[in-house]
Amino acid sequence: MTHKNFIPSVYSNEITAGKVTYKSPSNIALVKYWGKKDNQIPANPSISFTLDACATTTSISYNKLASKSSDFSFDLLFEGKPKEEFKPKIKIFFGRIESYLPFLKEYHFKIETSNSFPHSSGIASSASGMSALALCLMSIEKKLNPEINQDFFNKKASFLARLGSGSACRSIEGDLIQWGAHSDIAESSDLYGVKYPYKVHAVFKNYHDTILLVDKGQKQVSSTVGHDLMHNHPFAKNRFAQAHENLTKLQAVFSEGDLKSFIEIVESEALTLHAMMMTSLPYFVLMKPNTLEIINKIWAFRESSNTNVCFTLDAGANVHVLYPESEKEEVFQFIKNELVAYCENGQYICDRIGFGAKKL
Ligand code: DP6
Repeated sequence: MTHKNFIPSVYSNEITAGKVTYKSPSNIALVKYWGKKDNQIPANPSISFTLDACATTTSISYNKLASKSSDFSFDLLFEGKPKEEFKPKIKIFFGRIESYLPFLKEYHFKIETSNSFPHSSGIASSASGMSALALCLMSIEKKLNPEINQDFFNKKASFLARLGSGSACRSIEGDLIQWGAHSDIAESSDLYGVKYPYKVHAVFKNYHDTILLVDKGQKQVSSTVGHDLMHNHPFAKNRFAQAHENLTKLQAVFSEGDLKSFIEIVESEALTLHAMMMTSLPYFVLMKPNTLEIINKIWAFRESSNTNVCFTLDAGANVHVLYPESEKEEVFQFIKNELVAYCENGQYICDRIGFGAKKL
């Protein structure tokens, strides 16, 4: 497939008004996307667990305009209130996807959106937000062209979400999603996420992710700026090659349920992501002292308890604590006893692997 497959020909139906709602989850990358080429093409492939509890619910009410407008016409409400600050990002997104959804200037849209997680929790809402928006728009396109099948619908929703925020393309389906061309996975594509197509051992079913909110403030450096710093980064070439290798290694890990190797890859990926930030120019550090305290506690507990708890990090200070279902009591007790003290205001979110977005 190329991006041209997503440019529609004339629509068969006429629709004047309607409303659609989607709830779309966030995701947590195991192999990280960090660095991109033009048009939101990833510099390396990545894979993520789709989450369940952290999600955005978005409704779009649409009304056909008397004639096509010269600019995008939409209102935006976040948690019930108009939110002007969010509009420029959506306008840019609409501009990027207009050639794939040529009806965008023919309607007025009322976009109503809210997150399941607290605002300013330091949790990025771009993956769940952009995927929910893309799904609503695809739903409108499906009304205009009912021939669209589910496979194409999901691929194009992922393709559109990617143009809003790269990692959002991994939030359409679950429970393990790969994005980015990789030689071992024939179906993989730089254009959209695909369900990981090979065997996954039962130990990875129902995996838990307890998100420790270490720092709820605004990040000092956005992901978009961070990605950009991978251009001319001294370690970029090796890093991109390493991501390919880690995805290859994960195939045996997933099929055999090899948790020791899983931990090694996942933690190394998290630390490499932050190492890339610390070694770019300008350099920056997104971890906080409590991020390191938590990491050290996890390592000590894993050693003494013989459990398989491990951590991963996003582009921020928060820690995602990952553990299998069979160890949930023991690990959760440890989190409450020893880790929650390092969270801002003691806040954390209990999440787990999920199965993708839902139409409401
Ligand atoms: C560290 O998807 O937020 O979470 O494409 O610029 O919107 P943009 O970036 P974004 O980057 C996320 C990077 C990451 C790793 C990952 O999710 O793979």
